[in-house]
Amino acid sequence: MSEEMVSIEASKVPKTVVLVGLMGAGKTNMGRRLAAKLALPFVDADQEIEIAAGCTIPEIFECHGEQAFRDGEQRVIARLLGEPIHVLSTGGGAFMNPATRQTILDKAISIWLRADLDLLVKRTARRDNRPLLKTGDPRQILSDLMTQRYPVYAEADIVVDSFDGPPEITHQRIVKALAAYLEAHPDGNNRRLEP
Ligand code: S3P
Repeated sequence: MSEEMVSIEASKVPKTVVLVGLMGAGKTNMGRRLAAKLALPFVDADQEIEIAAGCTIPEIFECHGEQAFRDGEQRVIARLLGEPIHVLSTGGGAFMNPATRQTILDKAISIWLRADLDLLVKRTARRDNRPLLKTGDPRQILSDLMTQRYPVYAEADIVVDSFDGPPEITHQRIVKALAAYLEAHPDGNNRRLEP
């Protein structure tokens, strides 16, 4: 089957689909495209946190500190995962929180959008809205975060490599990987239930 022919009916998506991965991996862009393809609502967790806080993420970090942001992130994602099925893109730190990670693993289908360092550096340089990248050399910070986070992101149900080129190619990879996952796990659950 050619990649263009892969399709997934919204009714066959049994759980919310969550995109995880580092800053610059393309989670928001790919989440929006996937939601359109599946005819499901799209939600961006960072945007929801900003709405709940009434200010931007840089402002939350500046006025209340990173921990306050992380607490808000955990609450917002727990709430969103109780809502009807949708496509949810999360900020790069969300899946690193053990409680949030467990909720995502239990209640959602998770896709790690994996990207190499050059791609992350290039993409994050386009915007100036990420407090974690302002504390030093962005390449070094992203490299350190890759070391810390990639082994944890690897717990996601599905891994897709973000392509440095037309976004449509990464989108097709995601659709294909999700279709294969749903064929193998129609209930969206790839974990054996405890007896
Ligand atoms: C963060 C990633 C950001 C945002 C915040 C912290 C992180 O989201 O949640 O600046 O810890 O990696 P994106 O991954 O969407 O840039």
